[in-house]
Amino acid sequence: MLENRRILLIVSGGIAAVKVPDLIRRLRERGASVRCILTKSGAEFVTPLTLASLSGEKVYQDLFSLTDEAEMGHIRLSREADIILVAPATANIMAKMAAGLADDLATTALLATDKPVMIAPAMNVMMWTHPATQANLQTLQSREVKVVGPSAGDLACGEVGNGRMAEVPEIIAALTRFFQKSEGQGPLTGLKAIVTSGPTHEPIDPVRYIANRSSGKQGHAVATALAHMGAQVTLVSGPTHEADPDGVKVVHVETARQMMKACSDALPADIVVAAAAVADWAPAVKDQKLKKGDAAAALNLSENPDILAALAQAGPTRPKLVVGFAAETTNLIESAKAKLTKKNCDWIVANDVSKGTGVFGGDTNTVHLVTAKGVEDWPTLSKRAVAERLAERIATALNPS
Ligand code: C5P
Repeated sequence: MLENRRILLIVSGGIAAVKVPDLIRRLRERGASVRCILTKSGAEFVTPLTLASLSGEKVYQDLFSLTDEAEMGHIRLSREADIILVAPATANIMAKMAAGLADDLATTALLATDKPVMIAPAMNVMMWTHPATQANLQTLQSREVKVVGPSAGDLACGEVGNGRMAEVPEIIAALTRFFQKSEGQGPLTGLKAIVTSGPTHEPIDPVRYIANRSSGKQGHAVATALAHMGAQVTLVSGPTHEADPDGVKVVHVETARQMMKACSDALPADIVVAAAAVADWAPAVKDQKLKKGDAAAALNLSENPDILAALAQAGPTRPKLVVGFAAETTNLIESAKAKLTKKNCDWIVANDVSKGTGVFGGDTNTVHLVTAKGVEDWPTLSKRAVAERLAERIATALNPS
């Protein structure tokens, strides 16, 4: 995706500039060409000679350089790129960008460009959280400036918090994602996914059924997130109030058996995410409405097929990545680990659905990602954010680069 892309890299003055040589190396390894503008303060952290050697191009530093302007005017410099990447982006350069200042070559190029801009902020945590910086960030985002990072961790100033520049692989991934999107592609383009969502309804007689409290919000959000990343998604949904997601093939079903059949029909697939709350039992359906005294007949239950376990069975059609959900009220992690093995799936997204968590029907979810490697605790996120994070993880697992 980065082959032959022209990147104008603006290096402003922060200690994170020491990561820039590696960034240039990795970009060039992927076939991108990199041309650098180094600000005056950036040059305190990394030398123009280093950047020139690694990029194989002249490094531009001075707005009023007669030779530079004769060779390549600052306007041309800002336009002869597919994207401008500011890394590191200091609080100062973000403020200048937000205000439209143009008092050096970097800010002039940023104001004169007609190309997309991405920033990788890096600064002290207090500078990052300062309302001025946050307001500038919002202004920049409202102008479609892409932002990668920062992340939390130890900062060079000795403090701990948000403000570390995104690591090189993250910046590369963000650039890759940007170019994929611009071509209507995503990291999951070419891959097929099956997602189950919602409850199932198991009829008892013509008027009654067994159901559960699943809203389908999480499963539908997963289908949407996978589709946004380019996957060809079949969403097999039980009865929900959720709208069919755009760009997704939706198969509406009612019972677990119908869900099983729809999933089997959708095979082969590369990815399965089983988010549905499938009823474990189905009553033997009566043709006529049962009378009050027929309780025993109503609960003549038989076990439903386990869709997740069936799809995860080893064999030539096994999808590459099978993800289940485990909604529990007790022993969350232990049960999830047991399910991982028992159902032969690759990951389990475990969530506590005890009374009071508000997960069923709510908009947020607190989940743990259980894999063979261990357990990751995710913070409480909107169901949409859980879905996006899961889709990102799936993309990384299937396209390690
Ligand atoms: O065993 P349990 O129902 O707790 O497992 C939950 C996981 O298994 C979920 O991913 C759910 O979608 C899936 N499942 C299934 N078919 C069933 C029961 C559960 O696909 N009959």
